[in-house]
Amino acid sequence: MPMTPERWDFISNYATEVFPPADDHLDGLMDRAREAGLPSIAVSSDVGMLLKILVSLTDGHLALELGTLAGYSGIWIARGLQPNGKLITVEYETLHAEFAEREFEMAGVGDQVEIVRGAALDVLPSIADKVGSESVDFVFIDAVKSEYPQYFEAIRPLIKPGGLLVADNVYGTGAGWIDEGYGTDKFNRLVAADPDFDAVATPMREGVLIARRKAT
Ligand SMILES: C[S@@+](CC[C@H](N)C(=O)[O-])C[C@H]1O[C@@H](n2cnc3c(N)ncnc32)[C@H](O)[C@@H]1O
Repeated sequence: MPMTPERWDFISNYATEVFPPADDHLDGLMDRAREAGLPSIAVSSDVGMLLKILVSLTDGHLALELGTLAGYSGIWIARGLQPNGKLITVEYETLHAEFAEREFEMAGVGDQVEIVRGAALDVLPSIADKVGSESVDFVFIDAVKSEYPQYFEAIRPLIKPGGLLVADNVYGTGAGWIDEGYGTDKFNRLVAADPDFDAVATPMREGVLIARRKAT
């Protein structure tokens, strides 16, 4: 029996229904975000759980996210950190950053999360100065898709040996897919060809790349 678009939709909905179990705070978050005028472009709950699991497999001291939106993925990431671990998350839109700040507090992770406001490529140099090289356990890239290669170049030296890099939408978004010449192809090939990383892209949702900086 072939994989059809209908079957793929069924499986995607099934995965969200079964995995993970309901979460009172996160289940209502994106409805609140929509009501506040934010777009519905957060990761799905199964990808959220994947983020939490992956963070928890690292040392869990420091995580970095590009693209906060409403704080949905950030809360999953924060829940995978050590109790004293910290997430730095970067957001360009003031409305999104202010909404997310409230949600981080409500989710009980406010003390662990710092929102850096600004365009990722503008603020990454100061973040790099602050955290230092090879200090970050986990990175999640989910901001401007065409900028992913530049994010990788800026973030690569910050990732600890054994640390993880995860990126969403590596096969596409509603705005364009990889077979249509969509922009993440360059990023995927850059990470895949990097001798310091083991990398794979899973077909979960719109494609989730997972790469691990090889331990030296
Ligand atoms: C796909 S959404 C992030 C979703 C979020 N990671 C989640 O799953 O809950 C992308 C976010 O990146 C923000 N953004 C857009 N351009 C940006 C830039 N240059 N630097 C940082 N953030 C940016 C958008 O405002 C939006 O909130």
